[in-house]
Order: sequence, then C-alpha cells, then structure tokens
Amino acid sequence: MKIFITGIAGFVGFHLARTLRKRGNFVIGCDNFNNYYDPQLKRDRAAELAKEGITLIESDIRNPPLLEKLILDHEITHFVHLAAQAGVRHSIKHPEQYVYSNLDGFVQVMEVVRRHPHIKFIYASSSSVYGLNTKIPFAETDPTDRPASLYGATKKSNELIAHSYHHMFGVSVTGLRFFTVYGPWGRPDMAYFSFTNAILEGRTLQIYNQGQMKRDFTYVDDIIAGTIAAIDLGAPLEIFNLGNSQPEDVMSLVRIIEKLTGKQAQLEMLPVQPGEVPVTYADISKSQAALKFSPRTSLEQGLEKFLSWYLPYYQR
Ligand SMILES: NC(=O)c1ccc[n+]([C@@H]2O[C@H](COP(=O)([O-])OP(=O)(O)OC[C@H]3O[C@@H](n4cnc5c(N)ncnc54)[C@H](O)[C@@H]3O)[C@@H](O)[C@H]2O)c1
Repeated sequence: MKIFITGIAGFVGFHLARTLRKRGNFVIGCDNFNNYYDPQLKRDRAAELAKEGITLIESDIRNPPLLEKLILDHEITHFVHLAAQAGVRHSIKHPEQYVYSNLDGFVQVMEVVRRHPHIKFIYASSSSVYGLNTKIPFAETDPTDRPASLYGATKKSNELIAHSYHHMFGVSVTGLRFFTVYGPWGRPDMAYFSFTNAILEGRTLQIYNQGQMKRDFTYVDDIIAGTIAAIDLGAPLEIFNLGNSQPEDVMSLVRIIEKLTGKQAQLEMLPVQPGEVPVTYADISKSQAALKFSPRTSLEQGLEKFLSWYLPYYQR
C-alpha cells in the first residue's frame, strides 16, 4: 500500500500518517499550511513527521499537475483526502474559503484521482451533514438534506460529488463522517482546546445555550483506527459514521477540564450560535460491523492524554 494524504500537517492527517508509517506503509502527503489556526503548530507536526521519514510537500490541493506527478512517481494506491476548511463558526464570516478548498479543491482532487482507476479514494466528511436531523443517534441512512451551516453543506456536497465520480468513472470512494475529534496535537479552534487555554490563563469561557449542547467527542486514536480500517477495506462506495456514540454536554467537558487542571472556569452564558446543532450522536452499528470500529476512550481519559501533550508543548 502506498498512501497519499492531503492535509497531512493537520490534526487528523498528522496522526494518520504516523500510525500508517508505524505499521510499515509508505506515506506521503501535502499541506498548504494556511493560517486558519496557528501555522506554527502545523510546522511542528510536520517536523515530527520528518523525523519519522515521512515526506511532506508544501502545496495547495488545487495543483493538479503536482498531484498527478506525485501519484505516478510514487505509485500511489490509496488517496486519503483530509485537506479542507474546517469549522462551523468560521463559515459565517469566510464562506469563500469553504468554496475554495471544500468545493473547488475537492473536484480538482477527484479529477486527478479518476485518471487512476486502481486508486482507492477515502475522504473526510463530517457529522455536520446531519444538520437539522432530530432523530438520534444519527445513522448513515438518515436524511442529510438539511445542513445547518455552509460547512455542513460543503461536506454533504463532497459526498454527492464522490458518488457521481463513482457512478461516472468507477472511482472507489469511502466517506468518513467524523464526530468532534479531539486529542494531543489537536486544533486550537475547537472548544476543548480553547477552554483549556482560557481556564489556564484565567480568562472567561463563552458558553452557548447554557452548556446544554451535546457533542459526541471522539478520541483521535479511535478515529485513526476507524480510518485505517476503511483504507484497508477500500470499498467501492461507502459512507461510515466514526464517532464515540456517547454524547456529552459542554458543561461536562468544562467540569472535566477543571478537574484535570485543578482550576475553576469563569463562565459567560450566551445564546445559541447560528449554524450550531443541539446534539451530535453517532449510530456506529454499520462501522462496527464493516470496520470492527469500537471506540474505547472516555472523554476523561482522552482529555488527560490531551493535557499530557498540551502542558509541555505550551510550557505550562
Ligand atoms: N477534527 C474534527 O473534529 C473533524 C470533524 C469532522 C470532520 N473533520 C474533517 O476532517 C478533516 C481533517 O480535519 P482536521 O481536524 O485535521 O483539520 P485541520 O485543519 O487540522 O487539518 C486540515 C489540514 O488541511 C490543510 N489544508 C486546508 N486547505 C488546504 C488546501 N486547499 N490545500 C492544501 N492543504 C489544505 C490545512 O493547512 C490543515 O493542515 C477535514 O476535512 C475536516 O473537515 C474534522
């Protein structure tokens, strides 16, 4: 197996690359190191990857000749597409970045991949595709035609585009609906990370909807295990939920961080934000059956591991 990963200096891409490399796979990837969050964190992840002998090319995904060359030069067999503009809230002020990477970029990548029919294409979708769905837990068979944010709409579009490339050109496509991934080397824009920063610095946390929003927080190692199982399966046309299937409310998240840091949070209660949904909750029976996916990390265990990276990394 020779695996290409886009967004390899990102949170999930970094962990995926390391784990695949550890089990002996050839891994190469690209990232454009954009400044959606501190690019130094991406550079530091890249430095760790370099130490492990993983080649990272600094490039945008919207560079078909380069992708084509890398696929041919390295005889790529699996293409894992993780590069995207993430984040629900950011899409309110910066819609163009979602069109650039998640729509235009996605199609440019698929256009390259389709010229190599042996390549298995695995891409990141999101729990955001469930949007205004109120039936819980969310199953892959539930309707996903009412996105609550532009981010969710672009991820749903990726699933539709992937379907059309499978139908027209026979590309093998697997979409992974990740649910709120967290852990060491994580994304500073996400709540668990920014709450930890704020609590340690004595700053006030902004809590929306009385902290009653529930998220299916999923530890990164569990996500990586599911992703690798999907790579190995290389199905012709599939979509899988990858979530912990144990939603927790935001106040529980705050209480666990308080307990682990020994510091009390200052809270400011704010109304619910546009684009946010009250709950995410993965039905994982399909991924359990097809991928033997069985997340095993509780939120408290996972946050403990997050902190054991975070504290030395930020010298706190
Ligand atoms: N982390 C989560 O909770 C979560 C949940 C659902 C879905 N996802 C999806 O999983 C994927 C990985 O997420 P992540 O948390 O690792 O995010 P991330 O932002 O840490 O990683 C994405 C990486 O892609 C790179 N990138 C973005 N646009 C690019 C472009 N046009 N060209 C080249 N590189 C580009 C970024 O620099 C970044 O390093 C994304 O597609 C995201 O939408 C993540």
